[in-house]
Amino acid sequence: MTKEDKYVDLLSGIKVLIEGETDMIAVMSNVAAEIHQTMGFWWTGFYRVIGDELVLGPFQGPIACMHIAYGRGVCGTAWKKSETIIVPDVEQFPGHIACSSQSRSEIVVPVFSRDDNKRVVAVLDIDSEHLSTFDETDRIYLEEICGLI
Ligand code: SME
Repeated sequence: MTKEDKYVDLLSGIKVLIEGETDMIAVMSNVAAEIHQTMGFWWTGFYRVIGDELVLGPFQGPIACMHIAYGRGVCGTAWKKSETIIVPDVEQFPGHIACSSQSRSEIVVPVFSRDDNKRVVAVLDIDSEHLSTFDETDRIYLEEICGLI
């Protein structure tokens, strides 16, 4: 099964899973679990925008840092820029926040508000224990998943 095949299955599974659910924590919990299990990533989870920082939300994987300031690390930068960031080698990203020494590459995708679709309300952060795990295929499907929630 190719990565794209897995994402196609994942996307249809998530659509069914979250249909009609309005509680964000419930949605984020099951979306994180479904992505994590289907794709076999090292760490998969959400940080929610609360005030002027990101706060750890539902995730799968090892424990992680709980608060990230605006513009800090990959997550805070994706929030500030309101765009997906792919990091092939975390050691080359200035200001990367190392929650785990095992993490080698990362993708962070913003989740936008439902009302105006402009405000970032959370980010989806995925870490891999391998270098250069994430590419345009991940970006396309993960952005689509984040658009559903
Ligand atoms: N590496 C992230 C922090 C979160 S952990 O990877 C789970 C960052 O630089 O923002």
